[in-house]
Amino acid sequence: MSQKPRTVSGMRPTGPLHLGHYFGVIKNWIALQDTEDAYFFVADWHALTSDYADPSNIGHNTEAMVLDWVSSGLDPEKCVIFRQSRIKEHAELSLLLSMITPLSWLERNPTYKEQLQQISNKDLGNAGFLCYPVLMAADILMYLPHGVPVGEDQLPHLELTREIGRRFNYLYGDLFPEPQALLTPAAKCPGLDGRKMSKSYNNGIFLSESIDEISKKIAKMYTDPARKRISDPGNPDICNLFPYHVLLSSPEEQNEIRLGCTSATLGCVECKKIFLRNLKAFLEPLHERRAALEARPGCVAEILDAGNARARKFAAATMEKARAMMGLD
Ligand code: TRP
Repeated sequence: MSQKPRTVSGMRPTGPLHLGHYFGVIKNWIALQDTEDAYFFVADWHALTSDYADPSNIGHNTEAMVLDWVSSGLDPEKCVIFRQSRIKEHAELSLLLSMITPLSWLERNPTYKEQLQQISNKDLGNAGFLCYPVLMAADILMYLPHGVPVGEDQLPHLELTREIGRRFNYLYGDLFPEPQALLTPAAKCPGLDGRKMSKSYNNGIFLSESIDEISKKIAKMYTDPARKRISDPGNPDICNLFPYHVLLSSPEEQNEIRLGCTSATLGCVECKKIFLRNLKAFLEPLHERRAALEARPGCVAEILDAGNARARKFAAATMEKARAMMGLD
C-alpha cells in the first residue's frame, strides 16, 4: 500500500462542471494527485438525498462528470476515481455510524437548516436528507484520510465527520483519524449575468463548451453598467468580467486591465478579447483530452470499474475492523 498521506473527496453529479468548479475544487484535486494517495468519487447517493423524485439523470451525469474530471487533468493512473454507489461498504458504514450519531447533531447542522428553509421546489423531509452528513462521514472515514479537499461550504459537514469519528473511537477504540479540511480559497466566479453561476440560469462557462459558444456568451455579458461609452472610466470591482481575469489572466495583465479600465483607455470589447485569448489557452488542452476520451467509447466505464475495484479493496479492510469493533465479527 502507498506510503503517501491519504485524502478523499467527492462531488455530487448534478450537471456539467463550470469554471467555478474547476477553480474552486478540481484544481486542488489535480495538485493533490501527485503528492497524496488520493481518492475522488462521484457522490451519486448524495445526489439522491434531494433529487430522489427524478433520478433519471444520475447515470448520465455521473459519466459526464468523470469525463469533465479526466479532461481537466485528473489522471486515473495517479488517483482512484470511483462511484460511491458501487462501494456498498459506504452504506454499511453509514448505517453503523448512524447508531452512534445523536439526532440533535443532525438537526442543528447549519447546512441542513439553511437548505430546508431555502429549497422550496423539493420536499426535503426525508430521512436520507437529514442523514446526509452521516453518509458523508462514512465516505470520508472509510479511507482513514488525514485531509479532505473541499470548498468552504463543506466545513460544517466535515466538523460533524470528526465528531462522529471521535465518538466511534471513544466507544469502540481507535480506528478513525481526524481529517482536516484542505481548503481551496473560494474562487470568485459569478454567473455571466451577475447571478450565481448555475446550470439552470445558463449563465456559466462550462468546461465542455466550445470556444465559439463561449465567445457569444461573453460578447453579450454585462461589464460595469455605469460604463456606457469607452470614454467613461470603469470600475473593475463591480465588473462581472474582472473576477474571471483574476482566475485566468496574469498578474501583469490584471494590473494593465485595471489601469486601462479606470483611466478609460481600455474598452470592454478589447478587455473581453484579452479574456477570451487566455480562456482559449486554458481550455484547449482540456478539449483535446476530452476529444481523445470521446474517441474511445466505454473508457469512462473502464476508468470507474478500475477505480471501484481499488476503492472497494480499501473499504473492505476498514469494514472488517469496524464490524469487529462493533461486535459484529
Ligand atoms: N457534500 C459534498 C458536496 O455537496 C459531496 C460529498 C459527499 C463529499 N461525500 C463527500 C465531499 C465526502 C467530500 C468528502 O459537494
